[in-house]
Amino acid sequence: MLNKFRLRKKQNTSSTLRDKIEEIKKMPVPEHIAIIMDGNGRWAKKRALPRIAGHHEGMKVVRKTTMLANDIGIKALTLYAFSTENWKRPKNEVEYIMKLPEEFLGTFLPELVKNNVQVKMMGYKDQLPVHTLRAIEKAMEETKNNTGLVLNFALNYGSRAEILDAVKQVLNDCKNGILEETELNEQVFSSYLMSSTFSDPDLLIRTSGEIRLSNFMLWQLAYSEFWFTDVLWPDFNEEHLLEAVEVFQKRQRRYGGL
Ligand code: FPP
Repeated sequence: MLNKFRLRKKQNTSSTLRDKIEEIKKMPVPEHIAIIMDGNGRWAKKRALPRIAGHHEGMKVVRKTTMLANDIGIKALTLYAFSTENWKRPKNEVEYIMKLPEEFLGTFLPELVKNNVQVKMMGYKDQLPVHTLRAIEKAMEETKNNTGLVLNFALNYGSRAEILDAVKQVLNDCKNGILEETELNEQVFSSYLMSSTFSDPDLLIRTSGEIRLSNFMLWQLAYSEFWFTDVLWPDFNEEHLLEAVEVFQKRQRRYGGL
């Protein structure tokens, strides 16, 4: 009896979710969503678990979020997985996070391939452990011809460093006659950033109740809509993503106009 009730409840939930998805698809969805996945440590602490347990649970949420984003027609999903500042964390935590791309892609790459998802990465590759980079490059290679959602991991990424490097590159190109100073505009500058193949995020989501950007896509988020939630990343589910998209669909974007 109890099992029957549970089953009915589950079926109702998933049909509600499907209805919501259909409803959301009737209106334009954001082309590019960027997410600051925050709160893994607090999620673990609440359960008296080590912080890395929160990161592991967070990895599972990456899969669910990717699949739903792909399903509703999002073109790009950028996930802030590790910042240039995160190296300051305890060695065991850093080492654990650096193993997650292997575990994630080792487990889910066939599913990503099957669902036409393309894997990309933005960040400073040089400092990444070889095993981390190898896993990501393999996934990038195997999915390079996919035309569905682009799943972009921001890994060892920092926006100020990115902007400074772009400025240096612009100066260099001007010095070498590759670029005329008069040609430099916002669009040209964007092409010097790590996100050059992406449109700017339309929607930024940050979980865990923190209301800050933490050195994430400072240039690219200039006109994005922001959606903050108290939900910790490991608890973030399909309903939350749909809610964020629904809120986005109700916003009026004016880009400084009226
Ligand atoms: C921030 O939460 C989270 C991170 C720095 C790591 C995020 C990584 C994942 C969600 C897994 C990524 C998966 C793949 C496949 C790369 P926090 O640790 O700062 O949480 P806290 O603020 O509660 O301590």
